[in-house]
Formats: sequence, C-alpha cells, structure tokens
Amino acid sequence: MKRVRRLGIVGVGLLGGSLGLVARRDGLADEVVGVGRTQRNLDVALERGCVDRAATSVDALAGADLVVLATPIGTLASSAAAIAPHLAEGAIVTDVGSSKASVVEECSVALNGRARFVGSHPIAGLETSGASAAHEDLFEGARCVVTPVAATDADALREVKALWVAMGMSVDEMSPVEHDRVLALTSHLPHVAAWALARAVAATRGGGVDPLRFSGPSLKDMTRIAGASVDMWRDILVSNADSILAQVDLFRTGIDDLASAIAKRDGPAIEGFLNEATELRQALVSDGGPAVAEGGVEIVSAAPPLLGAVELPGDKSIGHRSLILGALAHGTTKITGLSSGEDNASTLAVLGSLGVESCRQDDRVWIEGRGFEGLRAPSEPLDCGNSGTTIRMMCGVLAGRPFEATLDGDESLRKRPMARVTDPLEMLGARFGSSEGRPPLRVCGATLRPGVFELPVASAQVKTALLLAGLQATGETTVVEPGASRDHTERLLPIFGVEVRRPDGQTVSVRGPARLEAARIAIPGDPSAAAFWLVAGSIVPGSRLELRGVSVNPTRTGALDVLRAMGARITLTEREAVGEEPVADLVVESAPLRATEVSGETMLRAIDEFPALAVAAAVAEGATRFADGSELRLKESDRLAAMTQGLSRLGVRVEEASDGLIVHGGAGIGGGEVETYRDHRIAMAFAVAGLVARDPVRVRDAEIMAVSDPSFLVTLRRLRKGGA
Ligand code: S3P
Repeated sequence: MKRVRRLGIVGVGLLGGSLGLVARRDGLADEVVGVGRTQRNLDVALERGCVDRAATSVDALAGADLVVLATPIGTLASSAAAIAPHLAEGAIVTDVGSSKASVVEECSVALNGRARFVGSHPIAGLETSGASAAHEDLFEGARCVVTPVAATDADALREVKALWVAMGMSVDEMSPVEHDRVLALTSHLPHVAAWALARAVAATRGGGVDPLRFSGPSLKDMTRIAGASVDMWRDILVSNADSILAQVDLFRTGIDDLASAIAKRDGPAIEGFLNEATELRQALVSDGGPAVAEGGVEIVSAAPPLLGAVELPGDKSIGHRSLILGALAHGTTKITGLSSGEDNASTLAVLGSLGVESCRQDDRVWIEGRGFEGLRAPSEPLDCGNSGTTIRMMCGVLAGRPFEATLDGDESLRKRPMARVTDPLEMLGARFGSSEGRPPLRVCGATLRPGVFELPVASAQVKTALLLAGLQATGETTVVEPGASRDHTERLLPIFGVEVRRPDGQTVSVRGPARLEAARIAIPGDPSAAAFWLVAGSIVPGSRLELRGVSVNPTRTGALDVLRAMGARITLTEREAVGEEPVADLVVESAPLRATEVSGETMLRAIDEFPALAVAAAVAEGATRFADGSELRLKESDRLAAMTQGLSRLGVRVEEASDGLIVHGGAGIGGGEVETYRDHRIAMAFAVAGLVARDPVRVRDAEIMAVSDPSFLVTLRRLRKGGA
C-alpha cells in the first residue's frame, strides 16, 4: 500500500476506531485524523490511540488523501458531500457499509468528481459499538468485500484493497448488487431473525413468572446480535430492503415448513429438517476462515519469522475436571479461562444432559452444581464427541448413580479402548455393556464399594474415574500407578473441600461419601497447546514467541525438558500459582536443534506433546529416539503410525517400533499432503512442519484442530505477520 499522508476516519466507532488503531500501530499514514459527532466518543478514541487528532468538524480533514467513511449508511452520502471540498487532489474515499448498491451510487454522486470512491465492506462488525469497543485484532483473518463498478478508478481500487490487506483481511471483489444479495442472506437475515425472536420473547414478559429468569445459553446465543447498533442497522434494513425481503420470504417458508411438521407430530420430517440444519451448521463452523479450504489447509513455508505473544487456550485437562467437579459440588462454581475447544464443550454438554445448568460467556462458565445425588437420568445417549477424557471420567461419575445411561462419541472415540476404565469400575460394583470394550458404553450405576487399585499403565483418566467413583463409595479408595500421571484432579479436589491423601507421587486416596462445595477455579494456559508454539518458535529462523501464563505442573513439563535437551532456547519466568497449579511465562527463540532420546517418565510427561516433538526431531540434527510410548497407539489416532506416515510422506526418514520411533532429522522436510486421521494434535503438528518445509504442506481435515485449539490457524497467521 502506498504511504498515506493524512488518513481520515469519519465515525471513529468499532470499525473506524479499530482501523485507526492498526493504521497507527503499523505506521500506515503520517497522520490519522478522526471526525465524529460526539466529543465524548472522540475523547475515548484519542485516549485509546485510535487517532492522532480528532474533531467534530470536517475541516479537520483538510488535505486528507485517503478517507474511510465509517458512519451509519443513511449518513454516508451526506458525509461524502461534506468532506469533498476539503480533500487533497486525487484523494480516495471508501466506506465500511454493510449494503453497497445504493451506497456506491450515492457516494460517487456526492463526491462530485472531487475524489475517487470505492465501496468496501469489511465483514468484521460485532454487536458492540463506539471507540471503546475498537481493537487491533478486529479485522485480522476476516474477509472484506470491495465492490467496484465500471467507473471505478483502477489505482484507487488497488489502494483500497491494499488498505484492507494491511488490516489483516483477505479481500474479494463483487459487484454491489451481488454483494447485497449475498449479505442479505448471510448477515442481514440472521439479524432480522434475532430481532423477531427477541420480540416474541419480550411479548411474553410482564405476566406472572418472568421467562428470562429461566433462559439458558440458547436464548442468549440466538439473540446476541439483537443488541447491535440501532442507528446502523435501521439504515442497513432500509437501504437493502429488496434483497432482505426476498430472504425473509425464504425464512418464513422454512418456519412454516417446520411448524407444519411439528403440528403433524411428524418425527421423520422434523428429523430431516434438523439433519439438514446440522449439516449447514457444521459446514459453517468448520470453515476456519480464509486459510482453510475444502477441509484442508495449505501451509506455505519460506516463512517470515514468527513474532509476538501467543494467546493459549486454557488447559484442557483442568477444564474437564473443573466442569465435572463443579457439577458434582453444591452451589455455583465459577470457572475462568475455559478453553473454547470442542473437547471441553463436550463435557459441558454431557453434564447439561444430566440436568446440570450452566451459563457460559467466552472463557467464563458458571455451573449450578447439583451434588452427585442431583444428577438425573439422561433421556438420550450422552455424546462425548472426540473426547476420551470426557467419556472415561464420566464412567467414574455414572458408576455410582442409581440409573442407566449410555456414553457415546464420534468415529474416533468409538475405536478407543474403555476396558481399562470399566474393568476396575466393575470391581467397585458398577456394570458396563459395550461391544468389545469400545463405545457406545451402557453404564448401570450401583451402590459402590471402595477399593484399592494398582493400575498396570499410568493413566490420569483412569485414575480420575476411579477417584470420582471412590467419592461415592463408603470408605477409602486408593489408586497406585506405575508412574506419576498428571495430577490435576488431586490438586483440584481440596479446592472443592475434599481431602486427598498422597503418600507418594504415585499413590492417591480419597474417602467417600464425599460432599463437594462450589469453588472458584482459574485455568492456566495449556502446556500441550504451548508445545506446538515452542517447536514452531524453535525451528522457524529468527522467531521469538512469548507464551504467557502456561501451566508448568511438573507432570506436564516433559516437552519443555525434551526441547531444552535438544538445544531449544526457552526461558521460563515463574509467576504466581493459579489455584494449585504452578504457572510461568515462557519465551522461545529460534535455535539449532540436535537429536535426543525420549523415554521412560519423560515420555509419560510428554505423552500429548509427542506429535509436536516428532516434528522438532525431524528438523534436529541426528537421530532422535522415542521409546516407551505404546500408549500413543491408543490416543485420538495411532499417533506413532500417523507421525511415521506423515513424516515419511514429507521425505523424512522414520523407523517405527512397537512403542516408539526413530526420526532421522536434519535432512530437510519436503512438501505434500498429509493425513491427520482426524486427530487434532497430528493436524497441528504438520501445520508446524509446513512452516519449514521446502514445498507447501497440505494438512487434511484441518478443522479438527478445533478439538483443542480453535484459534490455532488464526494465531499462526497473526504471528507470521509479527503481531503482538
Ligand atoms: C488426560 C490424560 C492423558 C492424556 C489425555 C488427557 C487427562 O491420557 O493423554 O490427553 O486429562 O487426564 P491417559 O490418562 O489415558 O494417559
């Protein structure tokens, strides 16, 4: 983008303010001038650094060479007319309006040949407004549509596109009419539906019981956008009326069809309707933005260095446990820092099906605990999705409940062995039915006896399931492991008021029947998610990444130890513990890596980080040996086979053993398409490999990354541009 002397922003609200923040941060203009109606909002804009200068009069735009109109659509043409006399010769004007046909025509006329107009629609609006809502990441990774017409100046079009690219957006061109038709469906109709729904609910208030007191997340989700700016949306509805009305007709037909199926109590028709909608929803959420195409993502190397701070999801293991213990406690448990990943969402949904109410806002969740005795029999099978931790821990909870339930999951979960958890739970008195020890699992809860278990394989999931069952039995239940698996359950239980005996690192006992009391839990950053960035930061030359607030629980720091043994430059600054979890800020800088050996208890402490470490090994000089990892064959995929296959595909020599691999590193990584076996960690590992590969690496089924880190690709894009 050509350097701008004076960038004018008319309307320094959410979009205008965010644009100003990025323009100033990245030095896109010598000066950023904001013009607005209210001094109060302009003061906020100045204070927040959205603009260098602000005024309520358009005179302030004198000499501006690029102006972005970011006011409600109904005022755009008059704004264009008002600013025209003040602009520099050959100035370019664009807008951010959500409808385009009338805007492009009216603004072009209003500018009266004194400036070149290009219509833009950055699709990044939120329901919040004003300069106080502006933020630098608003446009990052989102799409912008520019709408040239025959008379549009080619240079101006190029500059406006470059402006949005500089904001971090991917830019598409469309005619104004086409834009309006598409947006009527994807944006305007959902708003109309939200307002109509809000109105229907509002109309029922005022009688006896206020229905809002009993509203769950569904009503909040469905009406979120009903809180959008009235000024802005009134104008959008008016200016794009015809296209919107066409879509409203379609919507009305949809409601009528569903209503008629309901009226006829026609189960199959309803099911067909719902299935169709589910498919659309899946297509929608699995589209992780411009980087993900047709279920895969292409990672191109020759990477610029990765620079900046990484926002990590909350630790997934602690998330599952906090939700379950919160549900089993008495009172309202507040959890902060919960990951937005699908696995934790599966646990929350399963608890919901057992009658546990919760309210979620971003990373915060309030759980209305019901005690063990308050759980009610589910009417449907409990869907644990892709989450092995959910299904195994819930086996422990349900083992002692006086009802039957079925636990099920996706295709990957249906392949995973459950006997390791159901066999010992049967010894406590519960009964399980399954086909060859795999889900779906039928659980018949019973009055449980306490027990002492020596696990053949260290497993935090099995240990936790037994402890959760033990809390329901009368007497002491003890679990002894051959190695120290992650101990988050043991650290959390005392916060919920339950005494835990830990005579050594491998033995833990609890006494039942136990009563849990509600607690406040803060979840630190996930060290398993951090591992991908530690590897990426190490292998992409010139990189420097900061990872703040990561759990450094000693049962989880295997990857850190392995990478340091490989020569990685990682500094660790300890911070105040979060709850009972030790936490640190990590900084990784690129460094040459050398081969190492990963086995025994280090392998146990790095079990989930193996895919990332295998990529580090492919880059490291020499042969890295991974051993004692036969458990890796039983994770979301057979991770030994998946990494062998993928790395070999990329030209890395790998020898596979029954419990590990030898990775011959240092000869470079080639390009190609790799299979993920729908395993989130395999997908992220190969995305990291792609950063240093000679040719593009295509990672199939990239949407599966959302199981643990839905923001992975967005973060990657930001770090490649050096964002903070
Ligand atoms: C987990 C324990 C580990 C780990 C899994 C999460 C937990 O599995 O691999 O991703 O949260 O308890 P095992 O308990 O089977 O070793």
